Amino acid sequence: MAFRTLDGVAVAGKWVLLRADLNVPVRNGRITDLTRIERLCPTIRELSAAGARVVVCSHFDRPNGQRVRAMSLAPMAVALGEVLRRKVRFAEDCIGLPAEQAAEALGAGDVMVLENTRFHPGEEANDPAFAAELAAIADIFVNDAFSAAHRAHASTEGVAKLLPSYAGRLMQAELEALEAALAHPVRPVLAIVGGSKVSTKLDLLGNLVSRVDVLVIGGAMANTFLAAQGIAVGRSLQEAEMHATARDILARAAAANCEIVLPVDAVVATEFRPNPPTQTVPVAAVPADAMILDVGPATVGRLVERLAGVKTLVWNGPLGAFETPPFDAATVALAQAVAARTQAGALRSVAGGGDTVSALRHAGVLEQMSYVSSAGGAFLEWMEGKTLPGVAALAA
Ligand code: 3PG
Repeated sequence: MAFRTLDGVAVAGKWVLLRADLNVPVRNGRITDLTRIERLCPTIRELSAAGARVVVCSHFDRPNGQRVRAMSLAPMAVALGEVLRRKVRFAEDCIGLPAEQAAEALGAGDVMVLENTRFHPGEEANDPAFAAELAAIADIFVNDAFSAAHRAHASTEGVAKLLPSYAGRLMQAELEALEAALAHPVRPVLAIVGGSKVSTKLDLLGNLVSRVDVLVIGGAMANTFLAAQGIAVGRSLQEAEMHATARDILARAAAANCEIVLPVDAVVATEFRPNPPTQTVPVAAVPADAMILDVGPATVGRLVERLAGVKTLVWNGPLGAFETPPFDAATVALAQAVAARTQAGALRSVAGGGDTVSALRHAGVLEQMSYVSSAGGAFLEWMEGKTLPGVAALAA
């Protein structure tokens, strides 16, 4: 899909409403990961250097239309100032007098952050009146929040109808990387889908079988596929009610010439805790009292071999229970193989989703993939082939 970018847009002296995703991880009141803030900075720097008055808006968490003190964006404004190494102002509300007065006081090149858009019920309701109030303080709308683009909210979709609207540089980078991975990929394309439930990734699997050449299924989701084919998986996590669906996906894959790769061996244990006694067994020999907690080394070997001819790779979801050692082994080994091929220039690798990013960081290869999306739910919906309302609103 073609979308409007900032190329050639005159922003000098203009008030630019920049939709960011400042919904960053916070623990005990402290921001634990600055990735989303850091990735936003190129757009802010570009706009500011061109003389725009940059008014950043975002949601944080889910306050349900109420003003919740613990969900204020004030700490994110401070963090943004630290990363940008410049003064960043803060307005106590995203609409009305506080926003107008703070916006009015901005000089060319200044940056400010508005309070959480979700403090108003009109945000999630995509209320045109609320969108109009947001639009009132700006001349131009720039959306840099791909990770919130699956929400048809006032600050992602509504406001884009009211102002000249463009994709920011982060949104542009996300869309270009994702288009290159699934819309117009260099083939063959291999997708890795892990995680625990088939039921939550049904649309995604359905879309992928018609788009990719090889689909690797890992995580507890693979157990459901194995069980659906009559393989006893002991006490492993699996969804008995999804067996027919899993068989249907296998049949659709066969019809679409998409090769499905399931584990051939597994690392099992009778207890799920860090470093319990484990056994590595073929998937057909899982003891009745054991649980599959990772794919085994023979499977990893096959996957690494399978990577050899692949040109494009899309990854969502770990292969095993990677947060609990030693069940991170397969995910780490495969991540390192993918990173090595990417660095050798043989593979374009794109990954996304919260767990996947943590797993790649844990494997030490986050920087060595071609592109890692900062989006969670939006990345999944994109992999499902859905139109994201925040992106559709920027269509050229
Ligand atoms: C995210 O973190 O995935 C986005 O900021 C969207 O947040 P939401 O799921 O609360 O809409």
